Amino acid sequence: MKETSHPILLFGATTATGSAFLELAAGRPVVVAGRRHPPGWLEDRFLSIDLNGASLPSPEALPENALLVSFAPIWLLAPFLATLHNSLGGQGRRLPLAAVVACSSSSVITKRFAANREDRRLVERLLRAEESLEATCAKAAIPCRILRPTLIYGQARDRGDQNLSRLVQMMRRLPLLPLPAETGQRQPIHGRQLAAAALHLADGAARDPAETASLRIAIGGDETLSYTTLLQRLQQAARQRDPQDRAGHCRLLPLPPGIFHLLAAPLLPISAKGFEAVLRMEANLAGFTPVHSLLGTEPEPFPVAPLAWHPPTRSPGES
Ligand SMILES: NC(=O)c1ccc[n+]([C@@H]2O[C@H](COP(=O)([O-])OP(=O)(O)OC[C@H]3O[C@@H](n4cnc5c(N)ncnc54)[C@H](OP(=O)(O)O)[C@@H]3O)[C@@H](O)[C@H]2O)c1
Repeated sequence: MKETSHPILLFGATTATGSAFLELAAGRPVVVAGRRHPPGWLEDRFLSIDLNGASLPSPEALPENALLVSFAPIWLLAPFLATLHNSLGGQGRRLPLAAVVACSSSSVITKRFAANREDRRLVERLLRAEESLEATCAKAAIPCRILRPTLIYGQARDRGDQNLSRLVQMMRRLPLLPLPAETGQRQPIHGRQLAAAALHLADGAARDPAETASLRIAIGGDETLSYTTLLQRLQQAARQRDPQDRAGHCRLLPLPPGIFHLLAAPLLPISAKGFEAVLRMEANLAGFTPVHSLLGTEPEPFPVAPLAWHPPTRSPGES
């Protein structure tokens, strides 16, 4: 997709996906919005906005006709944008945006029928936010694209994921890792791939402003693989990088489902959410749009480099 000349207003720049986005959008006019700017980011291209806060940015501070791209929590972005739209409307102004691309989560699909209340509440929160964001964009006649990514992984600059890096860490600590004999499917997406999808959709929406209809796209990586194969590929990558890495030598121990459930059972009274997360190892969380089909590129097998080898030791927003 040919890039447009619109400025970009980026939320969630301090995530690994946001870092990858900044790399992809290098040379384009980007304003980072958020509570903290990424390390080394120029102050004059940073807009201090707390999506949870009471104050709104002044209309003059916002770049004109921008592509808003967000990797921040959608349940914070949606009310913020609704309030900004109403406030600007009161001043006879409009939202100065050419398109909105925001990240929700595939959990709206995969956790819809969760047995635990916490996950069901997350689904409600995500759905309410998606609807609210779409309503705001519809009122302002701005194209809205909602990405519902599945498991995000990978490293960009100094930012890494908190998902697969934790699995690697667990495999480093344990000599063996019990697993159900048959694990479910996964379709992990690298942050760089998700960032490319967001940029592609933003440019596409701005290029064809008649296309104001909202889209919700559940998106995953190019390869669907079992949870066990995912762990094996991580181990392989760990051994290639460092033959001594203990993660590469943890023994994966497939267990009959009954025994595996018995092992997981003590978790139930402590954390229903944690117990369900362990049982989800057997569930298929895949079948999403593979990112290469959206981008029109060659599929990339899992794992896409670079990987995050250690979980973040500081909060993702800290610079
Ligand atoms: N991780 C996954 O596997 C996964 C799966 C599905 C969907 N998602 C979605 O994908 C996106 C990226 O996920 P993630 O896990 O990497 O990041 P995340 O932890 O969900 O989002 C953190 C980002 O949002 C910003 N943020 C948080 N509160 C804010 C506030 N009050 N005001 C302004 N900015 C705020 C943070 O900035 P600072 O803290 O620096 O201010 C940081 O850049 C998110 O939309 C997430 O919901 C993630």
